Amino acid sequence: MIKLFYKILDTLKNFDFSLFLKLNLIVLKKNYSKYPDYVEEFEKTLANKFNFKYCLSFSSGTAAFYASVLSLNLKSKSKVLISALTFPSVIEILKKQDFDISFINVDKNFKFDLDNITNQKYDLLVLTHPFGFYIDIGNLHKILDEKTKIIFDSSHAQGIKIGDQDHMKFADISFISLQGNKAISGGEGGVIFTDNESSYHQMINNHHPGHKDNVKLKVAGGINDLKLRMHPLAAILAKYDLRKFKNKNKELTEKIKSIYNHLHNIGIEHPYNENSHIGGFHFGIPFFTKKKLLSKYIKRYNWYEDLSSLQIKSLSSENDLTFFEELRFIDLEWIKKNNIYNIKNEINKIFKDVN
Ligand SMILES: Cc1ncc(COP(=O)(O)O)c(C=O)c1O
Repeated sequence: MIKLFYKILDTLKNFDFSLFLKLNLIVLKKNYSKYPDYVEEFEKTLANKFNFKYCLSFSSGTAAFYASVLSLNLKSKSKVLISALTFPSVIEILKKQDFDISFINVDKNFKFDLDNITNQKYDLLVLTHPFGFYIDIGNLHKILDEKTKIIFDSSHAQGIKIGDQDHMKFADISFISLQGNKAISGGEGGVIFTDNESSYHQMINNHHPGHKDNVKLKVAGGINDLKLRMHPLAAILAKYDLRKFKNKNKELTEKIKSIYNHLHNIGIEHPYNENSHIGGFHFGIPFFTKKKLLSKYIKRYNWYEDLSSLQIKSLSSENDLTFFEELRFIDLEWIKKNNIYNIKNEINKIFKDVN
């Protein structure tokens, strides 16, 4: 009974009357198919927020990535480099293209493992900024040149500035998933950001029937590839998160920095240091331990670990198996709901036998 009461209280705390009203009006007017004005407005707001010329919405983050790859018109056998921390559905999209794919390990500081790197150049780098961390590409100059295209998967990392630029500006195209508990969520959906007009228009022509800039606008369902339009209502939901994003992200970033400092003080290895760029966040706060931790607030990594088994070549000298064996996460949803004092106390309890 008490649990139910707290559940209702929690729901009421998150209740937003203007969102409720807006959704109901749209549903009553049945204004939720094709490309209503509010979807375009959402894309424009997002583009402005992150300082891009173009933003385009998709049915999922995976779809946004697929469209991004296609829009680069890469030749078959193109050399593609990904990091070992790449989301499975992103890898599957790449495997369906006729590419020559390699992966590179990330170390426990969330930096590239550059031992044994040769001067081989790549046509495409696909880089995920995982669990709220920006991964620096500055030290990859040996394998990237001015022709290398870059796609960032920033599904877990938004609102991160490098100097005065949003981190996504360092890629030709960046995408974020709007699925589930993402910092900006539409339930399902994804968006791309780019300044490249030709890629943007190609994505519209390939995947967005009914878009006002589609060259086949007059043909019903006229597109060149799969239809990957987002459900319009996702734009309303995601715009609500976007409105609150800046303040929430600032607050959460401070809380997470404080948790990392606490982990450091009690001797737990983790990827954060004072030079790290963090923001957005998803899933959990990563750290490394050899110990078995029995707590419902500690989660394990559940993506592919050994990309060699997917016939993807490793560029790193040897696979650091301890990385995935020891990688754990403190549940982000629990962190969001609790105050820092309680979190630190619980962390002390969880780790009291570790050292
Ligand atoms: C880092 C990352 N990339 C890509 C995706 C795929 O996005 P979607 O599920 O919207 O297709 C996800 C999904 O959670 C993700 O976490």
